Amino acid sequence: MVKVDIDGITLEAQAEELLIDLINRTGGSVPHVCYHPQLGPVQTCDTCMIEVNGHLIRACASAAADGMTVSTKSAKAAAAQVEAFDRILSNHMLYCTVCDNNNGNCTVHNTTKLLAIEHQRIPFRTKPYEVDNTNPFYRYDPDQCILCGRCVEACQNVEVNETLSINWEDPNPRVLWDGGSTIGESSCVSCGHCVTVCPCNALMEKTMLGHAGFLTSLKKSALSGMIEVVKGIEPETGYGSILQLSEAEHAMREHRIRRTKTVCTYCGVGCSFDVWTKDRHILKVAPEHGPANGISTCVKGKFGWGHINSEDRLTTPLIREGGKFRAANWGEALGLVARRLSEIKAKDGADSLAFISSSKCTNEESYLLQKLARAMIGTNNVDNCSRYCQSPATVGLFRTVGYGGDSGSISDVEKADLVVIIGSNTAESHPVIATRVKSSHKLNGQKLIVSDLRGHEMARRADLFLHPKPATDLIWINAVSRYLLDQGLANTKFLNQWVNGLEEYRKSLEPFSLQAAAQLTGLSERTIRTVAHMIAEASTTCILWAMGVTQHTQGSDISTAISNLLLITGNYMRPGTGAYPLRGHNNVQGASDHGSMPNSLPGYQSVDDPEVRQRFETGWRVKLPSSKGLDNHQMVEAIHEGKLKAMYLIGEEMSIVDSNANFVADAFAKLDFFVVQDIFFSNTCRYADVVLPGAPSLEKEGTFTSTERRIQRLYQVLQPLAGCQPDWKIIQDVANHMGAGWHYQHPSEIMDEIASLTPMFAGVNYERLAGYKSLQWPVAADGTDQPLLYTKRFAFPDGKARLFPVSWIGPTDQPNSEFDLHLNNGRLLEHFHEGNLTYRTEGIREKTPDTFVEVSPELAEERGIQSGTWVQLISRYGKVRVRALVTDRVQGKELYMPMNSVESPVNRLTSSHTDPVTNTPAYKETSVHMKVLDEVGESPLPRINSRFGHPTPQNGVEVERKWKRADYAPPGNGNGLVQLQTKQ
Ligand code: SF4
Ligand code: SF4
Ligand code: SF4
Ligand code: FES
Repeated sequence: MVKVDIDGITLEAQAEELLIDLINRTGGSVPHVCYHPQLGPVQTCDTCMIEVNGHLIRACASAAADGMTVSTKSAKAAAAQVEAFDRILSNHMLYCTVCDNNNGNCTVHNTTKLLAIEHQRIPFRTKPYEVDNTNPFYRYDPDQCILCGRCVEACQNVEVNETLSINWEDPNPRVLWDGGSTIGESSCVSCGHCVTVCPCNALMEKTMLGHAGFLTSLKKSALSGMIEVVKGIEPETGYGSILQLSEAEHAMREHRIRRTKTVCTYCGVGCSFDVWTKDRHILKVAPEHGPANGISTCVKGKFGWGHINSEDRLTTPLIREGGKFRAANWGEALGLVARRLSEIKAKDGADSLAFISSSKCTNEESYLLQKLARAMIGTNNVDNCSRYCQSPATVGLFRTVGYGGDSGSISDVEKADLVVIIGSNTAESHPVIATRVKSSHKLNGQKLIVSDLRGHEMARRADLFLHPKPATDLIWINAVSRYLLDQGLANTKFLNQWVNGLEEYRKSLEPFSLQAAAQLTGLSERTIRTVAHMIAEASTTCILWAMGVTQHTQGSDISTAISNLLLITGNYMRPGTGAYPLRGHNNVQGASDHGSMPNSLPGYQSVDDPEVRQRFETGWRVKLPSSKGLDNHQMVEAIHEGKLKAMYLIGEEMSIVDSNANFVADAFAKLDFFVVQDIFFSNTCRYADVVLPGAPSLEKEGTFTSTERRIQRLYQVLQPLAGCQPDWKIIQDVANHMGAGWHYQHPSEIMDEIASLTPMFAGVNYERLAGYKSLQWPVAADGTDQPLLYTKRFAFPDGKARLFPVSWIGPTDQPNSEFDLHLNNGRLLEHFHEGNLTYRTEGIREKTPDTFVEVSPELAEERGIQSGTWVQLISRYGKVRVRALVTDRVQGKELYMPMNSVESPVNRLTSSHTDPVTNTPAYKETSVHMKVLDEVGESPLPRINSRFGHPTPQNGVEVERKWKRADYAPPGNGNGLVQLQTKQ
């Protein structure tokens, strides 16, 4: 700590604390326009000038030092602040009363007020550029742009998409996309960071424009007239009265604009933000306080909410009658569901029914569905879609360290010395986690190794990119482990203190010599050795993996091998280390955590443990089944075998996302009774007998658990659309129609019940999760949570981790002369999964209208294919027709097809082979034959897709270039500026 005198008051500061943070933290005030705590010093605006020991300095770029005497209000400082802000106003027309950004948080407005500016000395002058409206989600108005550079800093160094820059050397600087493209044709991925941090109305969400203010929906000509009137009175009245008028207008807005915190409905990163609404119109998504994301989002969380008010939302229950659906009322539909489930249970037994929970639903809803299955029906046949992706990772961690969750937080990944990404297209599947890696890699010297079949963005950024043969990751991982042990590079101290099973493990590695591994993987021995040395030399390593690992017949074993490698190198139990299986859906972690699993009650408490059952039996006042139920893969088999007669499925497009989709759809057609609860009439609904309209995340309360085990509350942003109900209410109604007598009034009561029965969640309650507060499980009764999962012990009785030997078996469904190409599949940034939600956002559809198959340039040349050529892909299980996209992201005979299609789903091609430990389908082991059709269409990706852009990487906003301009001089009446500390 150091002592600093600010305006005559002595304050304690952290050494190195920025003066601006110190002033803000201690209730002082100094104007600052370009500074944003999550961006750090940008140093473009000069409004934060303060006087230190007689010299002017920027408060945002100077650290507190012991004995410093600071004046924020001296005549010299005040004059400099006003002068700097005057320059800003020459770039910005103040017409707040008719501006959609007049919402109390406009930095330019607030600084005008803070500095009590009445008249500007330098007149406003327009810039010779048009407004750019070419992005579907936001627009840029150069005339309102104050050139603060926050957007550039966010794009270059937080999102690290490196699209934005400012042409400081130009007579009329402005923000540029890809150095001078339109926004629409640039590399901009529409993540929204720039719009979120813009301190004024230069960058604005199009959904705000004409909607936020009372007068802003006027026609442009009328609006211009009003702006002229506002400007016209300024010389006479000064800005004070104009600001008063605009503040009255802002006060009126407060009555009709709601700001409600929610958690993103898409991926497992767990971004949270305020949603601004006016009636049912979504004005904007405003991220700032989210513990996982701060100001960050991707295009889906920021702009992908078209599904909420989509005209084709289901708004009434449907009942199948005579092969057609008819609308029904809730009483009739619920009565039918309860009657048929009861009848089938009575006739064929409880285990002839099965339940599938949704990883899009809340923890409380997942809990209630498994309670319905277990307590009301009496079966453990309940599962969720983690079976399709995450179960193998969970097993790998259960085997080795004891808990099935990420061993640290996203902040640990951010601070690691080395990040290894295996089988994860992180920049597209978990975009906000990717930003943290990209940023640490770009700015802080973090090293990055990527292993993948595709040269995606993270692969391109990596220090070392491995492209092993398909399904051979286990081999090189084990080879690295063996090499480290053989060379004495393992962490012996950690092994001795914390790990069991070293000798058996060492023996199991015998087949994995560098030579054998090189032969099987296609990697060079040198490459494998380099990986080993990079891990050994890094003081902290995190390994991230996803479906490129788990969706193999050895998904559990590869995950185990990863955790073994972390253990022998001591990369657990410390900040910046650990295992990070990246959870796909927003609440896939929570769905499993809360008991939608055939073998475990909430909190991974085994169904065959009598003590556990006893606790739930007492709590629920029922007798519970003790034998493990069917997982969703076994459910499909059991339907075909005639053993499973009825299914109740919530929010899961299973007929498309399960592998071997034709086989799954055939099974659904055989069910005696099928209930599907969803917000749209999905493809799976086509097989239903009753369809129940649920509610999306914005229309309900509850909690989600993200990939870092973070439990967060979502608040109700909008009332459920007429006719729909939150899913927890529907499940309760079904149960009550069967005589349950449940009386939950609010999801918080469900969470209280969960906490009372589940040690892992003992201290979870809604008060501890209020607002942006969150908890990372396990949560002790006193509310203590564990951001770093293992600090004092591993989750085994003796507190030690276990090395778990795994060997390599080899993939199924290998290419042969007939099926000669390997087909990989996965997500796209813009669409979530099959696209049931994201296709309903017009801008996303415009930029990414369809699926495609990526074909390498060499294969395209060999087969006479160009982007847009229609091909038919034929596997051993089905076929799809799709357009080709020629790209060097794939190589040789490897194809890649994203999942975003209901019409041509990749899962018509995938097999029923599974990982025997978890029954997770081996989606990534698919061989196909490609028939080139005599038809060439447009490229499946339009020119306006960001993948065709040309980023312009640079180190942030590069303010030094502004300072070099001939017309630039630091403000302050010629007193000169002392740069105590340059940009951090
Ligand atoms: S990628 Fe686009 S939306 Fe995201 S920060 Fe950069 S310019 Fe803005
Ligand atoms: S567009 Fe960028 S440079 Fe212009 S005011 Fe907004 S954040 Fe600042
Ligand atoms: S989809 Fe994922 S990364 Fe994107 S905003 Fe939502 S939670 Fe964040
Ligand atoms: S806040 Fe802009 S230079 Fe300090």
